[in-house]
Parts: sequence; C-alpha cells; structure tokens
Amino acid sequence: MEMTQRAHIIGTGLSVPERILSNKDLEDIVDTTDEWIVRRSGIRERRISSPDRDETTTHLSARASKKALEMAGVCADQLDMIVIGTVTSDCQFPSTACRVQEALNADNAVAFDVSAGCSGFLYALNIVSNAIQCGTCKTALVVGVDRLSSVINWHDRGTCVLLADGAGAVVVRSNPKEGGILSSHLKSNGKFWNLLYSSDGNGYTPAILQGLSKMPFHLNMNGNRLFKRAIECLSSIAKDALRHNSFSSDDIDLVVPHQANIRIIQAMANNIGIPMSRVFTNLHKYGNTSSASIPMALDEANRDGLLSRGKNVLLVSFGAGLTWGASILKWSM
Ligand code: COA
Repeated sequence: MEMTQRAHIIGTGLSVPERILSNKDLEDIVDTTDEWIVRRSGIRERRISSPDRDETTTHLSARASKKALEMAGVCADQLDMIVIGTVTSDCQFPSTACRVQEALNADNAVAFDVSAGCSGFLYALNIVSNAIQCGTCKTALVVGVDRLSSVINWHDRGTCVLLADGAGAVVVRSNPKEGGILSSHLKSNGKFWNLLYSSDGNGYTPAILQGLSKMPFHLNMNGNRLFKRAIECLSSIAKDALRHNSFSSDDIDLVVPHQANIRIIQAMANNIGIPMSRVFTNLHKYGNTSSASIPMALDEANRDGLLSRGKNVLLVSFGAGLTWGASILKWSM
C-alpha cells in the first residue's frame, strides 16, 4: 500500500552580512532618530551586505543552506529540488537557485526562484510541500533571501530604516510519519501592487555609505496603507489556517511571523488571541529582511530550543504583490 508522504523540516540555517547598521548610524544618513525607529517599528539595528565581503544574494543563500544541510545531515547531491524566494537576485537571470545549486554542487536538483515579495519563503515552502505529497520530490532545500539594501532609496526615511539583508534556509524531507507541514494557505491581490514596488532591476549597490548619490532609487512604499492591510491580511490568513486544522489559538505553541514591524506583529497576535510570549521576534536585530525573515526566525527559534518535537508552529507572512500566506507545522526534529 502506498504511504502518504508528509513534508518535514529536518534542518535550518541562516546567514547575515557582517556589517551592522544601527539606528544611530541612520541618524547620519536621513532625518530620523533611534527613538522614532524603535517606537514605530521595534527595529534597533540591521545587517547590510558589502560586495567586498562576498555577501551577494548567492553567497548569503549558500551559507545559510550549508548550515541547514549540516543540521539535517544531508549531502547537497541528495537534494532533488531547490526553491528560493527572492526579489533581489544577483542577476536578472539565471535564477539565484541555479547559482546556489552550483555553489553547493547540488547536481541532482531542479532549481528555480519564486517572486512573492516578503512571502517568497512561504510560497516556496508550499511548492515543495506539494511536490513531496505528490511524490515528485524527496529531499528539498527552501531558501528565503533578500538584499533589499540594493533597491532601497537611502534618502527615504520612511523605508530605509525598516529594510535590510539576510538569508534563511530549511531542508525539507518526505516521510510518512505524522507531523511536518500540516497545511499551507496562500493569497495574492494584485490590485494593491503599487503599495510596495521596485521600479527597476537590481544593480549591485549595497555599500550604502559609499556615494549615496550614485544609488538607484527604486523602492516605493505607502507605509501607512500597507500597515493597515498587513494587519488585516495576516490576521485573516492565520485564522484560516487555524480553522482548517480545527485548531484554537491555544493549540499553537509558537508563531513565527514575517518580521516587518513589531506593531504589526502585536496587532495580529492580539487579533488571533495569541500572547506575545508565544510569538518569536528578532526584528530588533535584523529589521525587515523580506523573504528571509521567516526562515531566519525559524532557525533562531530552533537553535534557541523553542521548537521541540510535537510543537505546533504557525508561520505567517505578508508582502509586496500583495501576497500573504500562512502555514502550520508540527515540529518533528
Ligand atoms: N524618522 C522620523 N520620522 C519619520 C520617519 C523616520 N524614519 N519615517 C516617517 N516619519 C514621519 C513621517 O514623515 C510623518 O511625518 P508627518 O506627520 O510630519 O507627515 C510621521 O513620521 C508619521 O508617519 P506615518 O507614516 O504616519 O508613521 P507610521 O506610524 O505609520 O509608521 C511606518 C511608519 C513606515 C513605520 C509604518 O507605516 C509601517 O511600518 N508600515 C508598514 C511597512 C512595512 O512593513 N512594509 C513592508 C511590508 S512587507
């Protein structure tokens, strides 16, 4: 008899640039204060990549992936799929996933990227989970990575204080045992695309203190409208995910949300009836790293011992598109 395969996360990893940019540093770049940024967003510092330190989208992804593979005890040639959520590839093409395939020597994988803004990781995880359930994939690497420093307008105080760089990765393997990814829920609404968009490609320009005038100013955001919509979308999709699994908020041991703004996260947690003591946040250290934020937070929560076997974890994201999504996992490592 054929067994139903389930997608289980068996390894996690993260990689961030070395360079820390504090709120105080930003006071020298735009008209802002540490106090304003902390009060309105919860962010205290973030990481910004430097080309001379080998911190491209590919490098960050490959480093996070190697850590996840090491934890999983999986060799790169065992991977049959690499799916990467990103909007800041090093090249317009080929995909970051193919570049990472080369960096890892993952010669047996099919590799491609997914563009879904900050929800890129959850979109990618959903694709892999479905492929595992269909039996078309056994062992996969899912990465969320972005270097928003390459598209930020460093004169726009409304955005440059929020966005940053990083990569997170998970190894997912098929196994018929109970648990793993219980359900995934994805949504998009293109009517609101112009609340957050980048108007051009990705010049490689993350060294933010070198020649500000030479920066491409691509990223546009309507922070206020996005703020309200983010809370609505995150709350409603989290409730959909709970309902689908016949879970109440008490059944969730840990929420790992997209790390955009502490006030957005608090409002969502309040709407779904989960106390902040059961919500993992690390945005004070990393800012909003877009597609990387959930796998980075998942890796930190995992390595901090917050994710023991059997715990129910709710992942929930929101981003440009607009896109949003949620996934409930029963942790099985
Ligand atoms: N420092 C100081 N003042 C700032 C500032 C900064 N970095 N950025 C904006 N301001 C000013 C504004 O110019 C405005 O001034 P005004 O009242 O004189 O016009 C004032 O602060 C209030 O701006 P507002 O946009 O109403 O603040 P807010 O409380 O909505 O917070 C954001 C702004 C951007 C932090 C908030 O809207 C937000 O987080 N939005 C969602 C963004 C997001 O998460 N995007 C990614 C989604 S994946």
